[in-house]
This record gives sequence, C-alpha cells and structure tokens, in this order.
Amino acid sequence: MSSMRKVKRNILLNPGPATTTDTVKFAQIVPDICPREKEFGEIMRFISSELTSIVADTEDYTTILFGGSGTAAVESILSSVMNDGVIIIINNGAYGKRMCAIAEAYGLDWVEYVSPLDQPIQLDQFQLFIQKLAQPASYLAVVHNETTTGLLNDIESLGAICKENKMTMMVDAMSSFSAIPIEMSKMNISYLAASSNKNLQGMAGVSFVVAKRDEVEKEKKTKPTNYYLNLYAQYKHFKQTGQMRFTPPVQTMYALKQAIQEVKEEGVKERYERYSQCWETLIAGIKKLGLHHLVAAEHHSKIITAIVEPACEAYDFDSMHDYLYRNGITIYPGKHANLNSFRVANIGDLTKKDIEHFLTLLETYLQHIGYSAN
Ligand SMILES: Cc1ncc(COP(=O)(O)O)c(C=O)c1O
Repeated sequence: MSSMRKVKRNILLNPGPATTTDTVKFAQIVPDICPREKEFGEIMRFISSELTSIVADTEDYTTILFGGSGTAAVESILSSVMNDGVIIIINNGAYGKRMCAIAEAYGLDWVEYVSPLDQPIQLDQFQLFIQKLAQPASYLAVVHNETTTGLLNDIESLGAICKENKMTMMVDAMSSFSAIPIEMSKMNISYLAASSNKNLQGMAGVSFVVAKRDEVEKEKKTKPTNYYLNLYAQYKHFKQTGQMRFTPPVQTMYALKQAIQEVKEEGVKERYERYSQCWETLIAGIKKLGLHHLVAAEHHSKIITAIVEPACEAYDFDSMHDYLYRNGITIYPGKHANLNSFRVANIGDLTKKDIEHFLTLLETYLQHIGYSAN
C-alpha cells in the first residue's frame, strides 16, 4: 500500500455506500480480464463462499451473486420464490413498504402487516394477524434493520413464528449483514438479501442472496415469471460454470474480495463493536446538543439513526448538509415525510474520532442558526 497514492478521504455518514479503505479502492485497479475466464470464476467462488460463512454454513447454504444494487436481491427473492402462496410483508419503514411495491408489481398474492416505525413489532398481535388470515400464508418477508429509522426487527422470534406456522421466511439484511450477528439456520431464515456496499465496506454494484440450498433446488420445478433476476437460473448457471449468466461488475468484484479479506481480519463481531462505539459517541453527542433520536436504544440497530430535527426556525436540512459536505462529511435526509428527521449512519471505515469531528461541526452549525438546547 505504501507505494500507492492516497485518495482524499470523505466521511460518509449516509447509510451506504460507506467510507472505504484505500486498499479496497485500489483493489479495483487490475489487469483487464474477461469474466468468463476460470481465474475470475475462482474469485466469485471465493466471494460466494465467504459471504455465506458470515451467516450460515456453506454445506447447507449458498450465496447467489447478481450485478445490481441491493434492491435486485430483494426483488429476486420475492419474484423467483414467493410466487406460490400468500406472502405476509411486514411494513414498519420505507424498505418494508418497498417490498410491498415489488410484490404488487409482480402481481404476487401479498398482505401487509403494518407496524409502528419507531416501536418493536408486537409479536402476540402479529400471531393473531396470521391466525385471522382468510387463507394461510406461505411466506414472510421482513427487513432486519429498518434503515428508515434504525429500528432492529426481532428476526429470531419471527423465525420461530414462521416455523410454527410452516412459513418460509426471507430477510432483507441490507443494512445489518456483516455487522449485526445473524445465524440463518438458528433463526429459520431461508433467504437473505444484502449488498456489497454497506457494512461489508466494498464498492456498490454487487447484490446477493444467501439461500438454503435445498429450498433453491426445489425451485427447479417452478416455471419462471422473471428473467434477469431468476434465482434458480443464476444459481444453476454459477454452480455449473462458475460464471454469472450475464456480465458481472468485474472491478467491483475485486474490491469485494479485498473487502471480505478486511472483514475477516477485523472480525464481524469486532466490526460491530467498532460501529457500536461510534454509535454511543453519536448518541451522547447529540444528547449534549439537546437533540434526540426516534428509536429507543434497546430496539436500536446502532448502525443508522434518525435524529429529530431541531426545533428552530432557521434550521434547514439542505444548508446543514451543504455546510457539512463542504467539510468532507455527508449526512442523509429523513426517509419518511412525517417523521421530521435527518439520518446519520455510523458504518464504513470510520472510528469514533470521525463521529466526534462530525459532532463538533454540527455544534458549530447549530450555534450559527441560533439553536439552543433549552
Ligand atoms: C434495508 C434496505 N433494503 C434495501 C435497500 C436498497 O438498496 P439499494 O439502494 O442498494 O438498492 C437499502 C438501502 O439503503 C436498505 O437499507
């Protein structure tokens, strides 16, 4: 690395793509290669197997890679697998709502379970909802860490409910994968969706599904109702050839390989500890400034935080964003029109020093607009 030029470091506090290391950035600079070559296939096999290992054992589970953003993996599961029975979709944020939109676009048989954005799912009420359905449900789709607010859904308990009710569960783990512990087998998760550019700290462009092998194999008999995103077709082709069906994002794959090596060096548990330390610093800092966050600490992912906007006439998200941006820090607007929040993520190649730097700038901005905590 020492011979490599350093790249200007921006502190991204948006919920991914996240701040990456220079080693991940430079891993993309490789000799040109045709992705149909065996050498490239070996890189994808390494990536697929290492991604599986983060959440499951590689004997019973496998990872199916796609070129695309995270939504591609979510859409692939819903449209390839969940098309033969009723799906319950839990909507307690923008990403649950997006799954409803995908299900609707494919004409799937879906029902929505709406739950408050800032409160844990009431499991007894959810069970009652299942029992009262006119037709028994076959599937459950749920987001793990709702990136809208940072609300962490209890996927282990939901997995147990699915087991009791013989439902197949899929989890959108986009913003939890590779930080918050997930054990697919223990949690009864059959399909999980994530991407390369959040807690994995890789580049954007790889979307993937971790799936139970025997469940994917069963899809052999299903007549496809999608094409590019067909999960079984992509699985079978990769298994047989070590290639994706269509052009993969070649250089992004090299970056992902390096990012995975860096996850292994740091450890997933240790990565989450580093993120949690950043989060504690953030929460203590905003409290000192008189600001508060939407979701209580005990239900919080400690990955992304929706902060209630300061009650001050001169406050304006865009001017706050622009001031921080000029100083090398990117924050994110709120995702929900009614919540009056802005969002700060603490993922990527960051330490609590970066969060302290953000808090100092935030304080300066708040003083500038005449905001006082009382
Ligand atoms: C929970 C969740 N699901 C899905 C997505 C969609 O990912 P992408 O924007 O990469 O398609 C995101 C992105 O922030 C997310 O946080």
